Amino acid sequence: MHRFSSMMFRKYALDRHISAGTMIWQPPLKKVPATTTKTLLFLLLIIIVAAFIISSWIDTSTFSATINSTNKAIIVSENHRKTRKKIEIPLNCSTGNVSQTCPANYPTTFETDDDPWSKPVCPDYFRWIHEDLRPWNATGITREMVEGAKKSAHFRLVIVKGKVYVEKYKQSIQTRDVFTIWGIMQLVRRYPGRLPDLELMFDCDDRPVVRSRDYRGPNKTGPPPLFRYCGDKWTLDIVFPDWSFWGWAEINIKPWENLLKDVKEGNNKTKWMGREPYAYWKGNPFVAETRQDLLTCNVSEKQDWNARLYVQDWILESQQGFKQSNVANQCAHRYKIYIEGYAWSVSEKYILACDSVTLVVKPQFYDFFMRNLQPVHHYWPIRDDDKCRSIKFAVDWGNSHKQKAQAIGKAASDFIQEELKMDNVYDYMFHLLNEYAKLLKFEPTIPEGAVEFCSETVACPAEGSHKKFMMESLVKGPSLTSPCAMPPPYAPSVLGGFLRRKANSIRQVEKWEKRYWDSLNEQH
Ligand SMILES: *[C@@H]1O[C@H](CO)[C@@H](O)[C@H](O)[C@H]1NC(C)=O
Ligand SMILES: *[C@@H]1O[C@H](CO)[C@@H](O)[C@H](O)[C@H]1NC(C)=O
Ligand SMILES: *[C@@H]1O[C@H](CO)[C@@H](O)[C@H](O)[C@H]1NC(C)=O
Ligand SMILES: *[C@@H]1O[C@H](CO)[C@@H](O)[C@H](O)[C@H]1NC(C)=O
Ligand SMILES: *[C@@H]1O[C@H](CO)[C@@H](O)[C@H](O)[C@H]1NC(C)=O
Ligand SMILES: *[C@@H]1O[C@H](CO)[C@@H](O)[C@H](O)[C@H]1NC(C)=O
Ligand SMILES: *[C@@H]1O[C@H](CO)[C@@H](O)[C@H](O)[C@H]1NC(C)=O
Repeated sequence: MHRFSSMMFRKYALDRHISAGTMIWQPPLKKVPATTTKTLLFLLLIIIVAAFIISSWIDTSTFSATINSTNKAIIVSENHRKTRKKIEIPLNCSTGNVSQTCPANYPTTFETDDDPWSKPVCPDYFRWIHEDLRPWNATGITREMVEGAKKSAHFRLVIVKGKVYVEKYKQSIQTRDVFTIWGIMQLVRRYPGRLPDLELMFDCDDRPVVRSRDYRGPNKTGPPPLFRYCGDKWTLDIVFPDWSFWGWAEINIKPWENLLKDVKEGNNKTKWMGREPYAYWKGNPFVAETRQDLLTCNVSEKQDWNARLYVQDWILESQQGFKQSNVANQCAHRYKIYIEGYAWSVSEKYILACDSVTLVVKPQFYDFFMRNLQPVHHYWPIRDDDKCRSIKFAVDWGNSHKQKAQAIGKAASDFIQEELKMDNVYDYMFHLLNEYAKLLKFEPTIPEGAVEFCSETVACPAEGSHKKFMMESLVKGPSLTSPCAMPPPYAPSVLGGFLRRKANSIRQVEKWEKRYWDSLNEQH
């Protein structure tokens, strides 16, 4: 408190000094009344600010939660916010032959005790939320536009007065829809009562479908807003975190929060210098031609491109209990290759988390966080039209610039551990849904035949690994803090500069690569 007022005082003194220095001297008598009033006003301001600081400080330090005991939650309120405990509200699965209902006693509001002076700002990649919603910035989103997205959607999700309703249209691949909805249910548990009313359409398939060229020209209608897991530069689909953050049951990849801890421990055990000095990839090559092309770079008796490539046989793995496919144990190489499949690949975040240098084969698609990654800083770019030579150069470069290579691996894993931690994933969802809802030009209504969804209706009937992953990723209770502060949109010049820097560093690497191969060829 002392710091604030003295800071203000200094600023005030500085202002006075400047204006005094530039003012023509006048007889003091004339100036006195104005100065006195200003001083008085200023003192008053100080008192008000001080009172505000003190009161907010007292307020939070003696804060006690006021959730009613009807939900049987344990509420611990201490004398200081630092020690105020989270309340935990377990799932209430009805027993026996009763169809599962949503509990009426989960709090619908929850007071957070944020520090008014240091609300953290969200990571920079949140700024892409503005870019993804820009097509509707001028016009808003009408009901017709939303209905237009129905033809490819797997479900419609509606939030009205804090309750969530889902209208399912068709079966998604595996349990993508279930775990996506589960994720949104956890968001609701985390920030009860803070999600706005909205209606949205969600498509769980791989590739984006809303082509921007269909919505240009004089007769353009607004594009349909469609949520999915990835986009590309030709489409307008809105990107949302994929299901695997809550677990990918079919291939036994556990929820992100715990997996991140495993990977961190693994990185601590296997340091970069001690890892195999090659580029590793393991995956399913049959989903894309570019992956089959990659396999031609595998080491053979005739050639060593510094690549060690393996085919992932998920059926065999599942029979063997996924012993070979624990992603946390796949950080044994100094370089790891990321290559897209049919669209973006979920594997990306697991690869970037490794502390290894990620060799990114030129991607077409983006998910919600990767657009902010910088080549040569977070990853090493690989040409898609000359993969083998590109990989060979990357690995040779890294092995002869070990400090720089390690720094790239570290920058990526720091980004993943910090900016992509689950707290930020939830806040991204929160802000995306909020900004989206601000654009709606109609009042969301509960669709006929839609079912109320909550964590109970999703998790109680679940079984096996589905149930296990849901229990593991369950948000235990309301968050004590508010979401991070949303950063403003990029100024067009800033965004342009960012994209140019990105393109330039990729070109730079291509130049190095060319020089490397030219000099090798000269030697022969
Ligand atoms: C809490 O519960 C008490 C009864 O136990 C009731 O009188 C009171 O209005 C409730 N407060 C809120 C905020 O719901
Ligand atoms: C669980 O829900 C049932 C109704 O579905 C309710 O009777 C019961 O009190 C709830 N239990 C807890 C612990 O809140
Ligand atoms: C549940 O109870 C109803 C009637 O009480 C009965 O018709 C139904 O078969 C029961 N279902 C199961 C799965 O036991
Ligand atoms: C959307 O439009 C408003 C004004 O109409 C502007 O303030 C805001 O920056 C725009 N958002 C984006 C992402 O351009
Ligand atoms: C726009 O609409 C008008 C009248 O509906 C039609 O004649 C014209 O061909 C359309 N133009 C384009 C580019 O679709
Ligand atoms: C890393 O390993 C060392 C010992 O090998 C241990 O003391 C330390 O706690 C570990 N750190 C993490 C974050 O696991
Ligand atoms: C790549 O080469 C390694 C080493 O020879 C071998 O074990 C592996 O099966 C090969 N991968 C493929 C996809 O052929």
